[in-house]
Amino acid sequence: MDTTPSTTPRAAARAAYDRATLPPGPRAPMPVQTLLWLLRPVSTMHAWRRRYGDVFTIKLALAGDSVQVCDPALLKPIFAAKPDDARAGEANSVLEPVLGPNSTLLLDGREHLRHRKLLLPPFHGERMQRYGEIIASITDAEMERWPVGRPFPLRPAMQRITLDVILRAVFGLHDGDQLERLRPLVRELVDITRNRGAMIPWFRRELGGRSPWGRFVATRARADVLLHEIIRQRQTDPDVAERDDVLSMLVQARDENGEAMNVEELRDELMTLLLAGHETTATSLAWCFQLLLLNPRELQALQEDIAAGSTARIDAVIKETMRIRPVVPVVARRLHAPLQVGGWTLPAGVMVAPNIELIHHRDDLYPQPDQFRPDRFLDAQAESYEWLPFGGGVRRCLGASFAIFEMRTVTNLELADGTMDRVRRAAVVMVPERGVRVTLREPLVA
Ligand code: HEM
Repeated sequence: MDTTPSTTPRAAARAAYDRATLPPGPRAPMPVQTLLWLLRPVSTMHAWRRRYGDVFTIKLALAGDSVQVCDPALLKPIFAAKPDDARAGEANSVLEPVLGPNSTLLLDGREHLRHRKLLLPPFHGERMQRYGEIIASITDAEMERWPVGRPFPLRPAMQRITLDVILRAVFGLHDGDQLERLRPLVRELVDITRNRGAMIPWFRRELGGRSPWGRFVATRARADVLLHEIIRQRQTDPDVAERDDVLSMLVQARDENGEAMNVEELRDELMTLLLAGHETTATSLAWCFQLLLLNPRELQALQEDIAAGSTARIDAVIKETMRIRPVVPVVARRLHAPLQVGGWTLPAGVMVAPNIELIHHRDDLYPQPDQFRPDRFLDAQAESYEWLPFGGGVRRCLGASFAIFEMRTVTNLELADGTMDRVRRAAVVMVPERGVRVTLREPLVA
């Protein structure tokens, strides 16, 4: 993920290089480029690509030079680079206060590989069926609470669903005290981290708990007490081998030296799965509904297909949603060795960033790229570097099967107003500005 602006102690030791050797890009001063990147991410990215082409350099506060790559033919060297030479963990370092230093998202090299191997088995595609019942029952319970005939924003509703899915399927919490205590704390943490001011290192001042950063530190401390309690209980649970949730599998997992993850590692990975899996999936779902509801013919075709017992169209709808509205628009790697990308030799020290948003909107790959046309994916499989909402290489999203499985939830909704939401940046993810307002019609169709 590209979580710029970011900073890292290692960044200070970056090799010096000659900026004249970098691909050309906007000349505006760095603060102006950073502001545009933060406040008008989508239109700015497209304007830069129109002006500078498939490979261009932008300059962002704290992150420094970031070479944006928008041609899928140039991505292989980036995604296949040696993990020590192209580091994603370093590029994500702004998330460290929330996730902790042992998070898969923040690690690089051997430690990253060790964590990834321990985390992969619970997220294997085949295991998803086990979570199907949990996801369906949480969705039903949420929908029963929706008002009928009165508009309401869909994204918060999707956030409630995806949060509960993670707390139950990943943490293994079912109705009870720990679930009730953790839910509001996570919501609060997510809300605070969405506030850009709270997360930018320059503004991290506690001010006796009154500043956004101060509130964040206090809430994180309360969440940590609870997370440690949950982990310790699971580690000593005599029935852990019979449990289906991800945490129970992680507690039992052993690396190649026979070592288990310690409590701190488990805490950081739980927080990672929560934050990486909850907002992203909820936002994709909200976009999916908005696109379907604004394209009634697509919605009808989908409902007919589902009634006929086919899942081909829902998968195409999900793929097209994630193409046209990728919630993570850019992923990034910090180079520690020179890398050849097309005709450019990019020096150690720069950030190289496959730009998902721009690749997904290339008209040579996707004719009329701004149109929502799930048919594109009905007959043809996209090449992996042409459709990459989950990133790529050894850092590709661990929860991709989980997210897609969860998104196969379809409801019968009507848009409260028929206008498309603008894309707004909420820290890392790109969200619908007004939350996708919908009105529920009866009867519900699952
Ligand atoms: C629509 C939903 C989701 C989207 C769009 C998404 C997207 C991404 C992206 C773009 C990355 C970075 C890949 C890269 O740097 O190349 C990533 C990494 C990751 N995601 Fe997801 N994600 C989603 C859902 C989930 C879910 C449900 C989980 C788990 C419950 C999850 C867990 C992770 C983890 C652990 C990583 C770090 C992988 C690594 O560094 O090795 N994600 N995701």
